[in-house]
Amino acid sequence: MTDTDATPTEVPVADADWWRQATVYQVYPRSFADSDGDGLGDIAGVTSRVPYLAQLGVDAIWLSPFYPSELADGGYDVADYRDVDPRLGTLADFDDMVAAAHGAGLKVIVDIVPNHTSDQHVWFREALASEPGSPARARYVFRDGLDGGATPPSTWPSNFGGSAWTRLTRPDGTPEQWYLHLFAPEQPDLDWSNPEVRDDFKATLRFWSDRGVDGFRVDVAHGLAKDLVEPLRDANPKDFGLPTDGSDPLYDRDEVHEIFQEWREVLDEYDPPRTAVAEAWVARERVSLYARPTELGQAFNFELTRAEFDPAEFRTIIESNLELAAESGASSTWVLSNHDVVRHATRYGLPATTDGDAFLLSGGTSPELDRATGLRRARAASMLMLALPGSAYVYQGEELGLFEVADIPDDQLQDPVWIRTEHGLKGRDGCRVPLPWDTSSPAFGFGTHEPHLPQPAWFADSAVSVEEGDADSTLSLYRRALALRHQLQRGEDLTWVDDDPAVVHFARHDGWHSVTNFSTEAAALPEGEVLLSSGPVETPAGGAAQLPGETTVWLRVR
Ligand code: NOJ
Repeated sequence: MTDTDATPTEVPVADADWWRQATVYQVYPRSFADSDGDGLGDIAGVTSRVPYLAQLGVDAIWLSPFYPSELADGGYDVADYRDVDPRLGTLADFDDMVAAAHGAGLKVIVDIVPNHTSDQHVWFREALASEPGSPARARYVFRDGLDGGATPPSTWPSNFGGSAWTRLTRPDGTPEQWYLHLFAPEQPDLDWSNPEVRDDFKATLRFWSDRGVDGFRVDVAHGLAKDLVEPLRDANPKDFGLPTDGSDPLYDRDEVHEIFQEWREVLDEYDPPRTAVAEAWVARERVSLYARPTELGQAFNFELTRAEFDPAEFRTIIESNLELAAESGASSTWVLSNHDVVRHATRYGLPATTDGDAFLLSGGTSPELDRATGLRRARAASMLMLALPGSAYVYQGEELGLFEVADIPDDQLQDPVWIRTEHGLKGRDGCRVPLPWDTSSPAFGFGTHEPHLPQPAWFADSAVSVEEGDADSTLSLYRRALALRHQLQRGEDLTWVDDDPAVVHFARHDGWHSVTNFSTEAAALPEGEVLLSSGPVETPAGGAAQLPGETTVWLRVR
């Protein structure tokens, strides 16, 4: 049955609602475009590529952190929340970038990292120079050790491996208190029960909003509120997932929502209100709490980054996330790749038996990567994602069909995961390699100097200059898909069409259908005008058109 006769709800897109169905392009600034030839991408590099992004057809740019940072964690160790890393430019460069983006009709979202600062932040330096119990230490989580001081105050683990506590030593070598860091030791956690911390982040939200920023991506949003009452309770083992009653001492505590209610008041001081999207790795049913209109307004749904290329999994994820978004009043978000996960063209090209997370984090060095399958499936999944109601987050380079770079030499790896796991896990550098723009320039047009992570020779096949001239390239597919998405997208609902369990088929408004065949065998192609397909669609002589395996087709069904 093709129930195009369902009457979807019209949702008017006022400017304040621009984010609801936006395509947001994630820029990892140090690896996007290098304008000054130092091997690191920068803000002026982003400005220089605004025309590219406008032509691609995205609605907004989200910049991962570009703030001053010692780069202990790719910039997620922020030394000053209200400045630009001098290696990446100046505030004036930032203003120029925002003006260029706005001039091209693109919104700008910046990353805010409230769970932890860098150990180079002036507050942490003050804390180190101050005595235990001082106000400077009260901005962070300092505690005495157990058993006379030598044992960490709790068993809490760092997300990057090892303990979440590091012990300080006085200049004369005497050991003293421990401080908490849920990530690297260079990322001390703030104590969000401290009003000074709360006020300072509100000042940061206003600082960037006053400069014209349209929204914020909130790092580790579920981590800010902690149960610091002693004795410190053990955290729940990650493997079993977080409890759904807010009782974990570290993550997804109910008090965190008071913080975001305060933030919403600040975001609503602006016209249009500034948007925010939570990075919250919490139980599915708790994600929508962060997305309430009285809080951040939207939350990431990362489930597609963990899903197999499987129709039942995709369908369940889509259905449940649309329901959850509807509950909170937000629109859903969709993510296939970002700066923390192995690129989806690689994930889909690995044997199905490959063990998910453990393997992915190890860097995806499997010799069994089947590139043709990976890319075919990635293109199909991307088109499916771009047909869904809600916001689609596209990670830089996925529009080129890039694979993970799996062979970065060990001595060039930068991710703290690599160091903290004593070289057990490679970490995330493989998706952060500087982009290939142009095959006729050094560093594939990224910049004039050797890039901060090495680019593989095969990047030449996927450079923008190559793909631009190829009507069948992944870049051409994304451009056409995004142009069509703008034209066709109305309303925020879909109607399922159940005709084949190997196929995920849904209808949006006005007869726009998206049909994805997840199997390797051809399936029946529903009748309609083919608007776009992720791979070749052929009609055998005298026969009906077929939907090839691992392909998405957008149709107009009258
Ligand atoms: C999530 C970010 O996406 C990741 O890159 C970072 O390492 C952690 N938060 C810590 O800030």
